[in-house]
Amino acid sequence: MNFMEKEKSIGVFDSGIGGLTVVKRIASVLPKEDIIYFGDTARVPYGSKSNKTVIEYGIQDARFLISKNVKAIVVACNTVSSIALKEIRSNFNVPIIGVIKPGAHLAAKENKNGRIGVIGTRSTVNNKAYSNEIRKIDQYIEVFEKECPLFVPLAEEGWIKHKATYDIAEEYLKDLRELKIDTLVLGCTHYPILSEVIQDVIGKSIKLIDSGIAAAEEVKNELDRVGLCTNKNSLGNQEFFVSDIPTKFKEVAQLFLGREINSVQKVELESLTS
Ligand code: DGL
Repeated sequence: MNFMEKEKSIGVFDSGIGGLTVVKRIASVLPKEDIIYFGDTARVPYGSKSNKTVIEYGIQDARFLISKNVKAIVVACNTVSSIALKEIRSNFNVPIIGVIKPGAHLAAKENKNGRIGVIGTRSTVNNKAYSNEIRKIDQYIEVFEKECPLFVPLAEEGWIKHKATYDIAEEYLKDLRELKIDTLVLGCTHYPILSEVIQDVIGKSIKLIDSGIAAAEEVKNELDRVGLCTNKNSLGNQEFFVSDIPTKFKEVAQLFLGREINSVQKVELESLTS
């Protein structure tokens, strides 16, 4: 592999800020890699949009990262990963890594009783992305999916231990609690932020699966496999791009990434769509 190729950045995109939870995981597994992040904050949420729109947006987001000369693309967004991975792969000639398959494998590995719960956006759940992937691994595992759309704004508000978050989690998770699952997939970029509340409400004995952790391992394996790991010996740089700068951006970004972001650049929406 050409020396220059290895020193390009890994591109990561999400519908908004949530994918920073995945950047955090990638940076901990691959600390020397440079990362370019794009969050489509002008058009979030994707989880309530049609498959056609999500495919269109996913391709535009990936094209933006390709224009930044990335060596691989991580589709941090569960919604895009469930719907548009095939279309994105057929448009671009770099490794494209989604979060569903790695998350499904980790869940199947951790599961002991043949019953797995999945929570995600309306779109991820309606498309049965995790169920289909888990059944490919083990057809005897029963998968129960539940959409939890309100977790997204609650995480962005930073209401991580708020009474309202407990109430909403109780409402969303009470059925899953009755279903005797022993593993629960956090099938949305935002949910790891609320994992304490989710764990309290679903029960301490249930294993929570963070797809971002599994995806970060997959990125490492894929870069190794295609010979694209950096040769650098210093810590990687991270650059952040968004299509709109929401109020409280810095605060929320810190919550999701676990550290402060000093600079973030705005990309004009027209440049993505033209
Ligand atoms: N990033 C999305 C996901 O992981 C959640 C937010 C949205 O609906 O766009 O599915």
